[in-house]
Amino acid sequence: MFILVNLKTYPCDPVAVAEAVRDVDESTDARIGVAPQATHLERVAETGAETWAQHVDPIEYGSNTGHTLAESVADAGAVGTLINHSEHRLKLADIDGAVRAASRTDLETVVCANNPAQVGAAAALGPDAVAVEPPELIGTGTPVSQADPEVVEGAVGAAASVDIDVSVLCGAGISTGDDVVSARDLGSEGVLLASGVAKADDPRTALEDLVDPL
Ligand code: G3P
Repeated sequence: MFILVNLKTYPCDPVAVAEAVRDVDESTDARIGVAPQATHLERVAETGAETWAQHVDPIEYGSNTGHTLAESVADAGAVGTLINHSEHRLKLADIDGAVRAASRTDLETVVCANNPAQVGAAAALGPDAVAVEPPELIGTGTPVSQADPEVVEGAVGAAASVDIDVSVLCGAGISTGDDVVSARDLGSEGVLLASGVAKADDPRTALEDLVDPL
């Protein structure tokens, strides 16, 4: 299972969380990555944790003030990027452009989607993975894998119907090892989560709990 921890703009210590991600990753068969804010990418990557960007724009080098260039996040040490998070929505053409921008510099891509229909559309663009996240469950602590199993199964089916090899992750409300196991049992190859770790009193313990039953 791939566990990708999105730090959003939560007021956690990104380096401390990254060090916990690195250490827990080394102690388990699960793969764990962390997606800090763009300004923290370099410091987080220096910890040795698998580092992801939260976003890249569908642009190339040039006159793009305020945008995020795939080459720059890769130079900062990121190995992958989220695209089209629910809190940073893009138009379909821009998702396509962002996936292509990421692939220029070999960044792994996870395109987020609200529901199985969007998963099908996103998967057709050829990212490495799609992540289904019902917006109404994000940040609630109510796990999608237990509260809305149909949406996870639907996402797995939608991705499988596209003639491209695309992994499926699920997210929203995931915070325990049981949530991760439920996600796996529904066919998900990973989870995307944020508050369960970034807002935990002790992120390291939260991570250990997540991987404990795997
Ligand atoms: O990117 C992960 C996310 O949107 C889910 O957030 O806080 O429900 O784990 P959370």
